Amino acid sequence: MSLRVIFLGPPGAGKGTQAEELAREWGVPHVATGDMLREAARRRTPLGLEAKRFMDTGVLVPDEVVIGLVGERLAEPDASRGAVLDGFPRTVAQAEALDRLLRERGTALDRVVFFDVSRGELLRRLTGRRVCRGCGATYHVVSAPPRVAGVCDRCQGALEQRVDDGEAAVATRLDVYATQTTPLLDYYRTRSVLSEIRGEGTVEDVAAAIRSAVGHGVAS
Ligand code: AP5
Ligand code: MG
Ligand code: ZN
Repeated sequence: MSLRVIFLGPPGAGKGTQAEELAREWGVPHVATGDMLREAARRRTPLGLEAKRFMDTGVLVPDEVVIGLVGERLAEPDASRGAVLDGFPRTVAQAEALDRLLRERGTALDRVVFFDVSRGELLRRLTGRRVCRGCGATYHVVSAPPRVAGVCDRCQGALEQRVDDGEAAVATRLDVYATQTTPLLDYYRTRSVLSEIRGEGTVEDVAAAIRSAVGHGVAS
């Protein structure tokens, strides 16, 4: 059994929150380009430092950089049975590159899940998000607070705001999403792999909607 799924949606839609849980449930890796790029920046690799200049202001990292990164990641043994892709692809060029990559390996996408969330809720989620400096765990000051304010439940690390969750970068990210990523909805709709789910409601409500869109992970 294998499962290749894309979680598509605007900044703050809940892609990472859902992907972390569901990838574990389905036994495939959670491949999040944003997390991979932030980790590279934290380790101060040349790629990470270059990417950080784009990420901090909210614009996209160049296609060839992320396409290379995802190509390498999907070639690792744990991705042989699939992956949950979170935050990739987000341009038509990236979607075409992914199609080529999967075709070369004789595989294909099972489903693209689009998270539909209103702008007001996105802003509420982004401004209240806190992430752990140590392990990267994600919280929300209102809807998913840690047991002790400012401290990670898992590793006791300090919680901080993402640099790109500031007002100016959020505005840029929403614009970039609207112009560069929304064309993917038609791209996948015409290929009959798109499922649109309601991304509002509790984390468990949203997970249930995704499971039913993906067929509980019991795909090909
Ligand atoms: P990336 O890290 O992918 O950011 P994003 O797409 O903007 O999405 P977010 O991570 O902000 O949101 P999310 O949907 O994961 O929401 P989350 O689960 O955290 O990318 C960052 C940057 O990296 C980009 O701007 C770009 O520069 C670069 N990059 C990455 N990929 C790239 C690519 N392919 N090409 C080019 N550049 C790329 O949830 C948000 C908050 O809401 C949390 O606080 C959470 O607790 C809360 N929450 C979640 N679900 C619920 C719920 N159901 N109810 C209430 N609160 C909820
Ligand atoms: Mg995320
Ligand atoms: Zn932590």
